[in-house]
Amino acid sequence: MKVLLIGSGGREHALAAALNRDPELEELHVAPGNPGIAAIALCHSIDTTNNSEIISLAQKLRSDLVVIGPEAPLVNGVADALAKAGIACFGPSQAAAQLEGSKDFAKKVMSDAGVPTARSFTCTNLDEIEKALDAFGAPYVVKHDGLAAGKGVVVTEDRTTALDHAVQSPRVVIEEFLDGPEVSLFGISDGTRVIGMQPAQDFKRAFDGDRGPNTGGMGAYSPVHWAPTDIVQETVDQVLNPTIKEMAARGTPFVGLLYAGLALTMKGTRVIEFNARFGDPETEVLLPRLKTPLAQLLLRAATGKLIDGEELEWSDDSAVTVVLASEGYPAAPKIGEPIMGIHESSDSAVFHAGTTLKDGILHSSGGRVLAVTGIGSDLADARAKAYEALSHISLFGSHFRSDIALNASVAEKGN
Ligand code: AMP
Ligand code: GLY
Repeated sequence: MKVLLIGSGGREHALAAALNRDPELEELHVAPGNPGIAAIALCHSIDTTNNSEIISLAQKLRSDLVVIGPEAPLVNGVADALAKAGIACFGPSQAAAQLEGSKDFAKKVMSDAGVPTARSFTCTNLDEIEKALDAFGAPYVVKHDGLAAGKGVVVTEDRTTALDHAVQSPRVVIEEFLDGPEVSLFGISDGTRVIGMQPAQDFKRAFDGDRGPNTGGMGAYSPVHWAPTDIVQETVDQVLNPTIKEMAARGTPFVGLLYAGLALTMKGTRVIEFNARFGDPETEVLLPRLKTPLAQLLLRAATGKLIDGEELEWSDDSAVTVVLASEGYPAAPKIGEPIMGIHESSDSAVFHAGTTLKDGILHSSGGRVLAVTGIGSDLADARAKAYEALSHISLFGSHFRSDIALNASVAEKGN
């Protein structure tokens, strides 16, 4: 099988590594890729905001499957364009990608499908905004309706801050605050069926102790021992399946990765958000543990051929991913610094998230630079492996969290 993967981050590096392990894979191409991906796949530099460049490349390479990493090409309709060209695509249509592209749309689908989520109001003027803020009270949760690259959501005790954020967008979703730990749980769907992956926990705040600004994600771990043992089945039954059924009933089936961000509240599991693609850095912590051949799985999903009752196979190992970020990330990342000390090892993997080669030397090129995953017999072991690999890497001014999976590993030992 020949696969073309679109994207250039740590998620795509982890996807590429997992696709490569599939015995059916003959050729792996990535566009545009990055220096880490270039070591394990053939990279092609194209403009991925241009659908016709993606189609031409897939045709030239005679790809059996195109896998879309990031959300932008999906919201741009690349899956529709590939379908028109008769090329199998793992990733939803433009209409189905609205589950991520519009918070208001996602709320409507959840409401119609009976999926548990925070109560909310969609507001388009000041009067509606003020009424919604006062209906729920503090802490206020205000979400801009469209794609906002992680900057669209404000959670605050301060009504003025909430109001200021709300009036910056023509359409906002204001919702009830959900109190409880968050986990990410992904479903792989062929449009009618959906298979749940194991959950992972992501660390969104920049600094230790969940302090500092929100980021794209500073680390993750899996498995999540403290979550209810039936969390995968419960999420498939109450969230993923009803959503997939609802999207199919609307005539816009969702084919691809349905990412459910969940809050485990005292009243039960609630959906915080949907994304229409693999999460980052959850992918870097989940895929190293996946034993099911990934290329065949994604091709079955892309062609409507998932098997009823199909389950994924996972290794018993634990995994912990720690993100190395540039100085100043997330506010104003300083890029262009040399990176040293990346070494291959059997119990860790270094995924490139924001790197580039300059005169043959690896340099940082983004806010999140590397995602370092440790694999071990339990979370403490996996943590040790990740931080050991990270300790050899030098990048001037960089920072990382030192407490990824710390509480969970202590709790695991205590059990
Ligand atoms: P989102 O982009 O919707 O995932 O929101 C980003 C982050 O804001 C989430 O990961 C949560 O930490 C927080 N958040 C979003 N919605 C809520 C909510 N209803 N209650 C509490 N926190 C929330
Ligand atoms: N880890 C958060 C995201 O991928 O959106």
